[in-house]
Amino acid sequence: MGLPLSKYVWFDGKFVTLDKANVPITTHAIHYGTSVFEGIRAYWNEKNLFVFRLDEHIKRFRKSGQFYNISLNFSDKIISDAIIGICKKNKIKKSCYIRPFYFVGDYGINLHVTEKAPTNVAIFTFPFGDLFNKNGITAGVVSWRKFSDMSTPPQAKMGGNYLNSIIATQEAKRNGFDEAILLDHNGNVSEAPGENIFIVREGQLITPPLSSSALNGITRDAIIKIARDLDIAVTETEI
Ligand SMILES: Cc1ncc(COP(=O)(O)O)c(C=O)c1O
Repeated sequence: MGLPLSKYVWFDGKFVTLDKANVPITTHAIHYGTSVFEGIRAYWNEKNLFVFRLDEHIKRFRKSGQFYNISLNFSDKIISDAIIGICKKNKIKKSCYIRPFYFVGDYGINLHVTEKAPTNVAIFTFPFGDLFNKNGITAGVVSWRKFSDMSTPPQAKMGGNYLNSIIATQEAKRNGFDEAILLDHNGNVSEAPGENIFIVREGQLITPPLSSSALNGITRDAIIKIARDLDIAVTETEI
């Protein structure tokens, strides 16, 4: 896979070694992008591993699938224990990225996905530090637009949605930028391919509203709350 993946992963209720977590080529999600995922950071402080806002991630994890009637057939408690468990089982002593995901399994060539469609759930982790290995990056507006909720819901973290992020990233890199900035269907700033955007203007923080097709990011929410605690003005407005 090209990542230093942990030895153990969690697959449909069990901790197994990575080589035991396999799916057939007929898996629906491979053909149609019917997967739901989260990206969770955990930070090591030389003593403990702190998982960032686990409950919020699990809440969004379930909600994303509900947009499409894709079932997560495990309780929030089981998923939460599995996420913490995967860190413990792998004896993680470094900051890491945790990727829980569920996806439609063997369901034929079938576009009528219902809550009865079979799903698999998996979690893996790998060491992860900064997203960019430099302090300060360049970002460029790309010609591709962020999809709006008139086509597919931007609040659902679905595998298929990320084709938009991939094509935007390709264009930004081709143009010599570190990162892409996507505009929404009205031409206002939406977000980056996998990050929300804030601008700092005259000591104030400004970020696009969710109506600009931006994901309701958990980091975005943390930044808004921390800024307000520090008496820094935050405005959600079209940019
Ligand atoms: C499209 C998109 N926007 C924003 C974010 C940031 O969200 P969060 O802070 O919840 O990780 C992500 C992260 O996965 C994303 O994929």
